[in-house]
Amino acid sequence: MNDLPGPVVEPPVAVTPERKTRDQLRSWRWFGTGDTRGFSHRSRMQQVGIRREEVMGRPIIAVVNTWSEISTCHRHLRERADSVKRGILGAGGFPIELPAMSLGEVMVKPTTMFYRNFLAMECEELLRSHPVDGAVLMGGCDKTTPGLLLGAISMDIPAIYVPAGPQLNGHFQGVKVGVGTHTRKYYDELRSGLITEQQWIDLEAAMCRSHGTCNTMGTASTMTSIAEVLGFCLPGSTSIPADDAAHPRMAADAGERLVSMVWEDLKPSRLLTAQSFSNAASTYMALGGSTNCAVHLIAMARRAGVALTLDQLDARAREIGVLVNLMPSGDYLMEDFHYAGGLPALLRRIEAHLDLTALTVTGRTLGENIAHARVAPGSEDIIRALDNPISDRGALAVLYGNLAPDGAVIKPAAAEPALMRHTGPAVVFEDMRDMMKRIDDPALVVDARSVLVLKNAGPLGGPGFPEWGNLPIPKKLLAQGVRDMVRISDARMSGTHYGTCVLHVAPEAFIGGPLALVRDGDLIELDVQARLLELKVDAAELALRRADWRAPQPRFERGYGQMFSAHVTQAPLGCDFDFLEKPGTLAEPDIY
Ligand code: FES
Repeated sequence: MNDLPGPVVEPPVAVTPERKTRDQLRSWRWFGTGDTRGFSHRSRMQQVGIRREEVMGRPIIAVVNTWSEISTCHRHLRERADSVKRGILGAGGFPIELPAMSLGEVMVKPTTMFYRNFLAMECEELLRSHPVDGAVLMGGCDKTTPGLLLGAISMDIPAIYVPAGPQLNGHFQGVKVGVGTHTRKYYDELRSGLITEQQWIDLEAAMCRSHGTCNTMGTASTMTSIAEVLGFCLPGSTSIPADDAAHPRMAADAGERLVSMVWEDLKPSRLLTAQSFSNAASTYMALGGSTNCAVHLIAMARRAGVALTLDQLDARAREIGVLVNLMPSGDYLMEDFHYAGGLPALLRRIEAHLDLTALTVTGRTLGENIAHARVAPGSEDIIRALDNPISDRGALAVLYGNLAPDGAVIKPAAAEPALMRHTGPAVVFEDMRDMMKRIDDPALVVDARSVLVLKNAGPLGGPGFPEWGNLPIPKKLLAQGVRDMVRISDARMSGTHYGTCVLHVAPEAFIGGPLALVRDGDLIELDVQARLLELKVDAAELALRRADWRAPQPRFERGYGQMFSAHVTQAPLGCDFDFLEKPGTLAEPDIY
């Protein structure tokens, strides 16, 4: 009974609130026994001032934190972990912070994608090897969300995701600037003499003005939104700006809620179903999300034992236009999206395409979580209605043809409409170094009709599947006013970028995919409506070229790189390691 004025806010209630007993807690195996091992475990906790009753029979919660000083999107997560712990302690749990690999997108080379599976393995094994009953996962930069979730899915103990939150809007000379999106735009303007060196330097200081992840609908915000719609986040948490006071409150709520989830045994396998991945696919398209999402979502689905394919994503893109008017496809930024109602408001817009019975971390269904969500008055241009998309060309198109027998992707909503059907001669770069050396060479034979081709930038060739797919426009064409061209590669592209870039060509060139056979001057046909990517060279000539092709030297001879090369799958399968793909089974360590 609520006798205060104002709306009644009901606490989360589990759909099946069966409580574990304390000796069913995983941590009880470490701390609950009277033998020498139990003695040692408790004694070691007492060594650091923790009383035995704090760890005996209370849920021990891992706070898996991807904080580091150089992971700038996560730099506030060290402090935010204290809010999470406050929530855990208040609910009767006991927090243990476990640092995990911090994958700051901009700083980590060759690419954070090279380490996504490393983080997934680390997360899974951190949870498996320690006396923990559940996990609060703290990340947000592009690969930390899928990395942590992949690990949690395979470990399958109760887990909740705390997104780092986006940066505040950037402003530069009266223009709202989005991270990544405007970097490339102004760089092209610098190279074509439209802005000065000093303006370029001033932009550097204006672009990123607070903690948090990129403020566009890039990969980070796409993936945290996906985490939320899959049921891993508290409703509406994804878009809370990192420096908003609501963010630490959300973090405390998440810690508090996770303790209840442990007692309810509400674990990822109860959240993840074919329906929840279908919801994620619908949301991806309405967001106008990053092409990287296709790779991560397929990887997560396969871990969860759900068959999700590129073709299914393509079909969903044909049904749902882009409704979120955020850069790089649109005009606004994540802060605007938050004030417009955030993800819950978007989900209300597309509820006809959702299974609202999907279970979430609140213990309620997705439909219950969003029942009261609305687009804020005056924000209809930011979160559009289904019949008024910002683009009906789609967030994703999957292309096939003799150049991409296993598929390639493009984001039509962020590409030039006039190039959706285009045939032009190839200008081929054998790898990134070749491209960097020649792209601005005045002698390069290229015009606006040309199709720029980059080889050897895929999962094995990059190595690590770097975001090199948005090849720069040659300087001499910029000077002619050209701002977009058809570009084709086996690389990925930053979710913050835009352009007519065909990406993820599979099989990749490094393993002898047809992309390896393209030569300067070959005609290439792109027809997005027909989902076609065709190399206009006859089969006999291609057979001759194939006979001449020699596999490049392996990229690695030892270490993690060698393991990566031996086991990473191609883009259409999610680039997971083949030995990690199976749905998780909880292989508990012996306690001795
Ligand atoms: Fe971290 Fe964009 S660089 S989210």
